[in-house]
Amino acid sequence: MLERVMERSVFRTKRLQSHPRLEDSHELGLRRDLTVWHLVALGIGAIIGTGVFVLIGTATVGNSHRPGAGPGIILSFLCSGMVCALAALCYAEFASMIPVAGSAYSYTYATLGEVIAWLVGWNLILEYGVASAAVAIGWSGYFVNVLNLVGIELPDLLAHAPEAGRSGGLINLPAVLVSLVMMGLLLMGTKRSAQITGVIVVVKLFVILFFLAVGAGGVNPENWTPFLPNGVSGVGAAAAIVFFAYVGFDAVSTAAEEARNPQKDIPRAILVSLAFCTLMYVSVAAVLTGLVPVTTIDVHAPVADALSRAGYRWGGALVAVGALAGITGVLLVMMLGQIRIFFAMSRDGLLSPRLATIHSRYQTPSLATILTGSGVALLAGFIPIGEAADMTNIGTLFAFCLVCLGVLWLRISQPEHPRAFRLPWMPWIPVLGTLSCFGLMLFLPSLTWIRFGAWTCIGLLVYAFYGHCHSRLAATHKNISRFT
Ligand code: ALA
Repeated sequence: MLERVMERSVFRTKRLQSHPRLEDSHELGLRRDLTVWHLVALGIGAIIGTGVFVLIGTATVGNSHRPGAGPGIILSFLCSGMVCALAALCYAEFASMIPVAGSAYSYTYATLGEVIAWLVGWNLILEYGVASAAVAIGWSGYFVNVLNLVGIELPDLLAHAPEAGRSGGLINLPAVLVSLVMMGLLLMGTKRSAQITGVIVVVKLFVILFFLAVGAGGVNPENWTPFLPNGVSGVGAAAAIVFFAYVGFDAVSTAAEEARNPQKDIPRAILVSLAFCTLMYVSVAAVLTGLVPVTTIDVHAPVADALSRAGYRWGGALVAVGALAGITGVLLVMMLGQIRIFFAMSRDGLLSPRLATIHSRYQTPSLATILTGSGVALLAGFIPIGEAADMTNIGTLFAFCLVCLGVLWLRISQPEHPRAFRLPWMPWIPVLGTLSCFGLMLFLPSLTWIRFGAWTCIGLLVYAFYGHCHSRLAATHKNISRFT
């Protein structure tokens, strides 16, 4: 009786065993050809981008809505990095148990129930879809910067989205175009896009190491005082923005069905890429704030501009071009993550089954790719970067909270299930992970909270009127009860 009630309930869960077996993934249409190094490249490719190349400027200097961290931005990167590390450890245990596409969405489906999984999937659209738009806008900023370097001026009307209260533009055309080009690449296949990402990761790392090596020579320690011009609140507000710089490490787990050895390689790749990026960010923050006085840091192309103004003009140009390449890679990986999430939700019947259709020639989910590409292009053309980043951060932090809670719940409800990677010091990591993610959410502006509330309500309505009735899990349960 209780079982029947649960089957109809919004809290019905997918049995861990009912996730597609690893060996089934080929039948499902996804090729299993990514190695651990492809995955680390995917991780670094998704992580290092607009956050460190663009948003670091606003976070350090501040604006009329938020206090800046000053040189304390070093601590802000450390704080967000630690929050992410706690969530990443939880992701790693989950990914080692449920290595299927869909990431946090699949994990919560197996633990906290369908409606919570739906909410997570719905928020992952913010994490990947809206983040892709923010990244495309950041790309456009550097693109315009590079065009200026070679003497080409793009009219303001075509280079910026309309912005309330400011004489913004009409449409951000470069952001729209780059989103559409990425969509085309993704339509042609994951392997090819993973190879392109690999090349871009190398360029991006070279540029960051170049900035550190050249910039370190120009550091003046006097620029580091005062270290905390706006105290702890400046550090907290900046941590809530630069959290964006870490968004994407979980893109690794969305590729689980395409990995050769997901149980071992996914946790390894998540942790290696996150640790490496934290080290890079803290170093870039230290060199940037030591190189020029905080108040003079540019908010559009801070890293390249600081190098130019410190006397290395050619270095600034090189960094600008490299940043452009790096951000391109992030866009590719973030859009890929969004496509995979649509694919997983559609395969479960929570979204239209057409989104899971695999293209016969390229073996990629073509409709999900087209939907993602056109949605990102539309957003990128018409919204400001800060608002897109804030929405991404709140949705991602919320999804992370649920992942941490899911790990905790699974240890209680299914303690015996094999885990290739087990979290140490239970229950501290998931408990601290949940609290710290929620704490960081509190530093985001109230308008972001209101939008997040509205987004959640729309999501619940879509679930009530579509997902709940079309869920494949519900259909499976019905068939089972007919024969028992
Ligand atoms: N972490 C990614 C970036 O900073 C989303 O661009």
